[in-house]
Amino acid sequence: MGEKGKFIALEGIDGSGKSAHAGFITDYLRRRGYTVFYTEEPSRGRIGRLLREYLKDESTLSLADAFLFAADRAEHLQHEIMPAIKEGKIVVCERYKFSSFAYQSVQGQDIKMLKDIHFFAPDPDLTILLDLEPKAGVERCSRGEKFETEDFLTKVRDAYLDLAKEFPNFHIVDATPDKMTVKDNVIKVVQDFLDNNGHPRPDQE
Ligand code: TYD
Repeated sequence: MGEKGKFIALEGIDGSGKSAHAGFITDYLRRRGYTVFYTEEPSRGRIGRLLREYLKDESTLSLADAFLFAADRAEHLQHEIMPAIKEGKIVVCERYKFSSFAYQSVQGQDIKMLKDIHFFAPDPDLTILLDLEPKAGVERCSRGEKFETEDFLTKVRDAYLDLAKEFPNFHIVDATPDKMTVKDNVIKVVQDFLDNNGHPRPDQE
């Protein structure tokens, strides 16, 4: 088995560009010779698929949402993320437990309870928060889905900014500029992190 891998999470409100930047990070790292496992939450596993279906109904109970997200995450960690890390891969995960802490607390769930039910979920080695004005987020996604209103996302953004102060290894990247500028800034954070955390560049070995 190779050396222990790394766990990078991407967080941000709907429309902040997580998918695009997760893709950019993955491509960049693969080009440099790293082995990357790209994944996302809700996961593509059974609970994740159920959850995506469940969320189409606007009237779902937020406590049930909270438990389903946590259950999906437990399975995702056990079956996909931890094995990839043990194999020495760099895991790039779009959304993780901070999505639950931010979204479900804004839905009215107690933040301590949300943290408690995530007792099994380790902190990532690096979390990148793509920070964006909610107005821009709503304009960029505008699919009219649950959670995608300016008022709701304003509170989610504030919750994320608080989490960034509370948890270690959080880096905030301003997602307002054009995509390529944000990409350069995100990649710099990732490369600095790898350089400073004993994960050598394969192309320099
Ligand atoms: P996401 O996959 O980002 O949306 P999409 O597939 O439509 O691009 O996540 C779906 C929604 O679920 C999104 O609005 C954020 C929300 N969410 C939570 O409320 N809590 C969580 O723990 C997660 C992972 C997502």
